[in-house]
Amino acid sequence: ERIWAVIPAAGIGARMNSDIPKQYLKIEDKTILEYSINRFLEHSKIYKVVVALSPNDSYWEELPYKDNPRVLTTTGGVDRVDSVAAALAFIRESEGAESDWVMVHDAARPCLSSRHIDNLITSKESSPDGATLAVGAIDTVKQANKRQTIEKTIDRDMVWLAQTPQFFPLGTLKHAIDSALKEGQTVTDEASAMEFAGYHPSLVIGSRKNIKITEQEDLLLASIWLSHGID
Ligand code: C5P
Repeated sequence: ERIWAVIPAAGIGARMNSDIPKQYLKIEDKTILEYSINRFLEHSKIYKVVVALSPNDSYWEELPYKDNPRVLTTTGGVDRVDSVAAALAFIRESEGAESDWVMVHDAARPCLSSRHIDNLITSKESSPDGATLAVGAIDTVKQANKRQTIEKTIDRDMVWLAQTPQFFPLGTLKHAIDSALKEGQTVTDEASAMEFAGYHPSLVIGSRKNIKITEQEDLLLASIWLSHGID
């Protein structure tokens, strides 16, 4: 069986206050998206990388993947989950097999280390329902109400912040996402679709360096990690 990487890169990054979608902003000589893609291309166990792009994308052509047979593109959708669903459908319609596995990774997380890809792949032996990278909560966690007043403090040891990659059997994930969408569930990551379908994915310890670039201040942090080493 093969392992595919799926990179949803069809967002506009509204919180970034930038004209260019955040995945196309540059750190040193490369766009954020290139760092994210290259980590998978460098990994010998990753078969191919499928990137979901916006139908209005005008930046992809500039990237150096035109002649790379391991990088494929498809058209993403309105929300992140629609982009992932489109990529999974694309894989199934091309050469994807039910027994293949898929690793979904945000375009906006350029500081992923290959060690964490390894750890996810290893987790497959003991986690048939798949797994996501995640980190424990550092701060004290408060549950609030709509008025922004604290209701209670949640046991921090039970709180994990989900990152990507998230790693699942292709067929199972596709069914889970398709049915969650059909039933109108809010799906902000792949694990939540799996949970909704009754599965219990594992948590594999990620890294606080594996940030999702969301606001301007994240760019400086990412450039520090990328230049000082992310392993
Ligand atoms: O906006 P946010 O940071 O949550 O986006 C996470 C990832 O999902 C980004 O890589 C973004 O490009 C992608 N995305 C997508 N299609 C959308 C919205 C977001 O592929 N419609």
